[in-house]
Amino acid sequence: MLADTVSERSVIAGHETGGDDAAGDQARLPSSVRVGAADLPVWPQEQSVAPMSAPLMAITTFSDWELYHPSLIAAALRAEQDPNLRGVIFRGGCGIKVRKVPEWSSPAALLIHGRALMLAHHTLSRRPVFADDTWGSIYRARDHCMPHSHLRSNVSVVYMLDPGDADPDDELAARFCVADPRIDACCPDEPGRVTRHVMPILTPGTMLIFASDYLHSVNPYYGQRPRITISWNITLERLPGRPGEGWM
Ligand SMILES: [Fe+2]
Repeated sequence: MLADTVSERSVIAGHETGGDDAAGDQARLPSSVRVGAADLPVWPQEQSVAPMSAPLMAITTFSDWELYHPSLIAAALRAEQDPNLRGVIFRGGCGIKVRKVPEWSSPAALLIHGRALMLAHHTLSRRPVFADDTWGSIYRARDHCMPHSHLRSNVSVVYMLDPGDADPDDELAARFCVADPRIDACCPDEPGRVTRHVMPILTPGTMLIFASDYLHSVNPYYGQRPRITISWNITLERLPGRPGEGWM
């Protein structure tokens, strides 16, 4: 069950119709969401967000992740079976794409959707924010994500739901990498010449926000258990047209 101030219908309706464009999507969020027997705050008090070694990049970890990950993982794998949500691009296209996180019929999905909006809201000086596109990425053995950036959004958010199996022979397997000439930390030898990646450590419950135009990728994954992340493209105004139109 959801907290009394919001429903799945209101979240989806706001996304589809534009909702209150002055206030932003974060303005419609409940203060908490009930997942199983637990009433979980959408934005926990004292939640700390740490800056990264790049402008407009920050990271936070939710300490209560064990309370909602089992149901969120189940929701992602269930949504993957829905032909209206499932999308397959190609081997290097970031695994199986499972679209529309708020429509996964899961309180845990609404919780993490709210947390992503709130992270963006806090990072962007508490301005109104809008979820232009949302999706899960389910990686299985040999899946990877070629270098790319995201169109039609200001910031992107990625959440580590399940890192899958660790590779004892390759500590960089399945690592999320940012390599962009505009980030000084990527260019320690010469301005604009990328010789180093920024590779945040994404443990379960960790959420990263970064500028959508940063070039990023995910190294190949070779484990057995699905590696699952959830992503958002966040804008500062409601954009016309269909999210994700014309790009991966
Ligand atoms: Fe991406």
